[in-house]
Amino acid sequence: MVSVILETVYAFLISQTDVIMTVILLLVLAALWSMYVPNKFPPGPVAWPFVANSSGLKGDLSEFLIALSERYGGIFSVKIKGRKTVIINDIDMIREALVKKEFGGRPWRFFNDVLSEGGKDITDCSYSPEYVARRKLLIRLLRNATVRQRMEEAAREAFLQVKNSIDDINGKPFNPQPYLALVVGSAATSLCFGRKYNIDDPELREIICAFENVNERFDHEVLIEMFPILRHVPTKGVRESKKAVSDWLMLIQSKIDQRKSQHNEGAVYSLLDGLFKFLKDADESGRDVSGWLTDVNVRQILSNVFIAAMFPTVITIAWFVAYLVNYPDVQTRMQQEIDDVIGPENLLLSSDAGTLRYCRAVILEVLRIRTVALRGLPHKTLENTCLGGYSIPSGTEIWMHFGNVHMNSKYWHEPEEFHPERFLDEDGNALPTPNTFLPFSAGRRKCVGESVAMNLITFTCVSLFQHFTFSPAPGQDKPSLKPDSSEGFSQFLPYEVVAKRRTGRETD
Ligand code: HEM
Repeated sequence: MVSVILETVYAFLISQTDVIMTVILLLVLAALWSMYVPNKFPPGPVAWPFVANSSGLKGDLSEFLIALSERYGGIFSVKIKGRKTVIINDIDMIREALVKKEFGGRPWRFFNDVLSEGGKDITDCSYSPEYVARRKLLIRLLRNATVRQRMEEAAREAFLQVKNSIDDINGKPFNPQPYLALVVGSAATSLCFGRKYNIDDPELREIICAFENVNERFDHEVLIEMFPILRHVPTKGVRESKKAVSDWLMLIQSKIDQRKSQHNEGAVYSLLDGLFKFLKDADESGRDVSGWLTDVNVRQILSNVFIAAMFPTVITIAWFVAYLVNYPDVQTRMQQEIDDVIGPENLLLSSDAGTLRYCRAVILEVLRIRTVALRGLPHKTLENTCLGGYSIPSGTEIWMHFGNVHMNSKYWHEPEEFHPERFLDEDGNALPTPNTFLPFSAGRRKCVGESVAMNLITFTCVSLFQHFTFSPAPGQDKPSLKPDSSEGFSQFLPYEVVAKRRTGRETD
């Protein structure tokens, strides 16, 4: 009996030792693998196993990457959150990578995967025939003149209500961000669902609130990004992320169902109407689109467009207000142009936008100096490839450092200076934007909403400064121009300003 027990204990210990030895061996192999640098891989600092480059663990990632670009130049590699990442700063290499199909993947991110229901959208879907088909369809729908006209009407109506609300504040300090979100949010709901809301409609507030809850969860789960297996552990963070997404997607689905019941077949006033019509036409002509456009894909395209439209557009307009409060001369010159071209009261029409050359230059300068997507959205190589004489294996994460390109003195004269005139010739005519200007990226995965964004930004910025003069809130600092870049986006710090109603041509 004793010998049986002893044998069992011995066998148990041996098996435990085996397990421990195997785990240690696997960890050593994984550590070695994580430190392995492929032949002719872009140079970079030595990294700790698994995690990141030591100096990149603390402090501002943007500053760390800029310091590395000064040391390694146009292309280098660095380990971030456990991933070997190639950072490209050189404009020719960026442009080459952006047009090459093999750079068209997207790396896996826990939250994006949950939000996109496994890449069923456009932004988080890797380059594939299904992705190309959805992207093409969205580009076509975004060009629809009726859809655009309706969206502009919604922005105009929302702006008039926001203008009244700002009037009601009566020169007291306020935070403009929620007002900007209402204008852009109204335009985005019209664009996506064909619904126009009053800015105090609880339904609109509910959509914006659910969007903000989702927005806050991006890039939260740092540990899961490093060790994806942890996504299966139902921590508080994982539960909160999933809850925010499920509330958001249920809301989107409810808007789809509402519209379906009211939809006048054939009429296209929004992206959703366009998607319904496309599906109906495909069905009638016997075309099978179920491989790339299911009900889930429809929900995902709308969720994707709403988030992609709201987030960077509101941030850009908020930067615009912050800059113009800091640069009152630029504000005055812009108001003069607005008074001359459209008058002090008429609302801007899209046909006027081309004649507001100085306003356009100011907007482009804000997009340059405070590039919202500092490093674009991450790309991933889909096969082994080369760039700039280096070899990059399939599956490598790629960041195009647009923010750094926009602030590089090799490409821009005095890049730290806020100088809208750089986009104008000596006679004040608009210059074509240089090929080093990439706030919307370029190539195969370029932002599909550039012209929608430019319409919304131009309309909102011009209308705000046509009707109000913005200045610092008494007793408070001017809005900070230092970005918070901790999440890879150039976020502004919350600020308050004062808006004084303009009465006609007071800049004369
Ligand atoms: C100031 C406003 C905006 C900025 C700065 C901006 C910038 C960008 C950038 C840098 C990308 C990544 C491109 C890449 O991966 O190479 C992107 C992607 C995207 N944007 Fe925008 N965007 C803005 C507004 C909009 C709007 C208004 C819409 C929709 C109407 C939109 C829809 C999208 C979509 C769907 C993608 C994914 C494209 C793809 O993966 O193929 N964006 N945007």
